[in-house]
Amino acid sequence: MLSVFSVVNQKYHRSPNHEITKCPYTSLVVVDVDAEVVANTRLSADYNVIALAAPAIASDVKPGQFVMVRVGTGSDPLLRRPFSVFEILRDERGRATAITLLNKRVGVGTRLLFKMERGHVVPVLGPLGRPFEPVEPPIRAWLVAGGVGLAPFATLAETLRTRAVDVTLFYGGRSATDLFYVDWFQRLGVRTVLTTEDGTQGERGRVTLPLERALRSIDREQPIMMYACGPEPMLEAVAHLARRFDRPSQVSVERVMGCGLGGCYSCVIRVRQHHGGSHFVRSCIGGPVFRGDEIVW
Ligand SMILES: Cc1cc2nc3c(=O)[nH]c(=O)nc-3n(C[C@H](O)[C@H](O)[C@H](O)COP(=O)(O)OP(=O)(O)OC[C@H]3O[C@@H](n4cnc5c(N)ncnc54)[C@H](O)[C@@H]3O)c2cc1C
Ligand code: FES
Repeated sequence: MLSVFSVVNQKYHRSPNHEITKCPYTSLVVVDVDAEVVANTRLSADYNVIALAAPAIASDVKPGQFVMVRVGTGSDPLLRRPFSVFEILRDERGRATAITLLNKRVGVGTRLLFKMERGHVVPVLGPLGRPFEPVEPPIRAWLVAGGVGLAPFATLAETLRTRAVDVTLFYGGRSATDLFYVDWFQRLGVRTVLTTEDGTQGERGRVTLPLERALRSIDREQPIMMYACGPEPMLEAVAHLARRFDRPSQVSVERVMGCGLGGCYSCVIRVRQHHGGSHFVRSCIGGPVFRGDEIVW
């Protein structure tokens, strides 16, 4: 079953100094598909990657966009849950056939997704939200991921590498058992800088430590774009570092989302207005990607 929705969304455009600015709302087609689970790979006791056959979404999704998944059949959970699209799977002819989700088990919905068997069918609505704006050379891309915030960076890194952009992934987790797909990114030609809070892999401490060092040491003339996804305190720290070192940033926020379509206002976030002051924006349609300096932290 496939239903088609038309929703409104905002688009980016890039000004000559590589600042990201918002364009007026534009139409976007969103589909609701019954997607079959074609694989479920457990990565650890709490993380899995689930592959869903959804060619209509896989062929259209852009890096940073998300889907709303109805994980249960009953009333618990009643509402769909938002997930970034992690990977796009293709057949031997290169056609996009499926998406994967990097799932972290935190509650009732993500628990169901963790144990879902092959052949199970789940309603998936998407692609939703405002994507990342990929840069072009000579701008370098610094991706900053905390935990499951890695999810939108697989497709973003692929897009950037296709454009021959120099990409570095700063990736932090609590422990070595929270870091995944590092080889995958390295095979793509992405430089990886790892941190863990317990020191079991990479540098001990938060991911913003090596990020700050890199910001201090990079040549001022070298343009960079920082992309961040992870816990909100990490996003705030990245946005503040970006401002301190006068660098642009794009952050993907993860607010609680009830509908993903702009109807319930559960996901609002305060952003600055051009002429001063601030207002609340629904992060499901105005985001999830925002300029770091746009958000009132
Ligand atoms: C745009 C977007 C993309 C996301 N992408 C991913 C992804 O790729 N992989 C992934 O594992 N998770 C992702 N999340 C977070 C995921 O949606 C939540 O973890 C999930 O909705 C929790 O559902 P649950 O039923 O398991 O938890 P619940 O039983 O509803 O709640 C359990 C706990 O999780 C907390 N929680 C609920 N929603 C969120 C949220 N949005 N962010 C953080 N904590 C939350 C609750 O406050 C509660 O403490 C994303 C969220 C957003 C908004
Ligand atoms: S999730 Fe419903 S308005 Fe954003």
